[in-house]
Amino acid sequence: MILAIETSCDDTCAAVVAPDGRRALSNVVHTQTEHDRYGGVVPEVASRAHLERIDGVIERSLADADTDLTDIDRVAVTTRPGLIGALLVGVAAAKGIAYARSLPLIPVNHLEGHIAAAYLAEPTLEPPFVALIASGGHTALYCVDQNHSMHLLGETLDDAAGEALDKGARMLGLGFPGGPALQKAAHGGDRSRYDFPVALKGRDNLNFSFSGLKTSLLYRLKELGEERTREELPHLAASYEAAVIEALVRKLARAADLHEAPAMVVAGGVAANALLRRTLKETLDIKLVIPPPRLCTDNAAMIGAAAPHTPAAAYPHYLSLNARSV
Ligand code: KG4
Ligand code: ZN
Repeated sequence: MILAIETSCDDTCAAVVAPDGRRALSNVVHTQTEHDRYGGVVPEVASRAHLERIDGVIERSLADADTDLTDIDRVAVTTRPGLIGALLVGVAAAKGIAYARSLPLIPVNHLEGHIAAAYLAEPTLEPPFVALIASGGHTALYCVDQNHSMHLLGETLDDAAGEALDKGARMLGLGFPGGPALQKAAHGGDRSRYDFPVALKGRDNLNFSFSGLKTSLLYRLKELGEERTREELPHLAASYEAAVIEALVRKLARAADLHEAPAMVVAGGVAANALLRRTLKETLDIKLVIPPPRLCTDNAAMIGAAAPHTPAAAYPHYLSLNARSV
């Protein structure tokens, strides 16, 4: 079995995954609450919180899977990209466990992990497919080939989709993370009341841009003033959320046309969004795999799912292995 560890941002995660990476026996996610009062993730606070929690989270992942380290024959860990101090905690824990038991270590790219969540959701899925990753740090479209190699088709030229949602939510005085907060505030709101711009709409390239949207919200809020903003909150939230989602759906539909892929995977924290999930199912006439929300946001099961098709570092050569922020 594979023990997987993920600490790239503000979730301390460990999971036990079946050898073929297609089934999670446990998936423990501890979301750090230390950042709440800052309205965003503070890197140094994140690494210290990971350090306090990591042992307990790993122990629980083994207990939940009704197993112990004697059943583990590989350790997988996110080595990049992410917050460097946060990544290092997971990498050190993984090295320690793998070295103590003479096991191989598998260094996993976080983005490949997000895509691999699709194999847990749909165990028979095989590449090629087109994949969108929309998270707090990344928004990119890839073509994943038969060898599981990722080829970039397009990406955001400025903010990530999740970042746009987080910043918009913050301007509207909503909580962090912004995606779920906006989704809640948008309840009952009219999505067409405010016309926020969808960038690069007509272009044939597959890039995204969200910075104009954010500026447009800023000007709109200045115009409205505090009291009207409060009254209009559900409509503002609904219209802003809809603009982010429309930008993603448009490019996905375009990618499906251009690349004639037999399937499409949508992953990353923003893929947990109900409006996006609903709209894609209605719009795309293609096999669509969107993992359940708890596998879209950061977790370690997805890192274990990427492990079988990622080269392993043999014992004890990984001791010099490093984490990377990009
Ligand atoms: O993949 P993820 O958990 O962490 C990164 O690797 O960044 O993604 C976090 C992002 C945040 O920007 C958050 O606002 C967004 O995903 N998110 C959502 C939802 N849940 C999380 N966005 C829209 N709707 C949601 N339900
Ligand atoms: Zn992520």
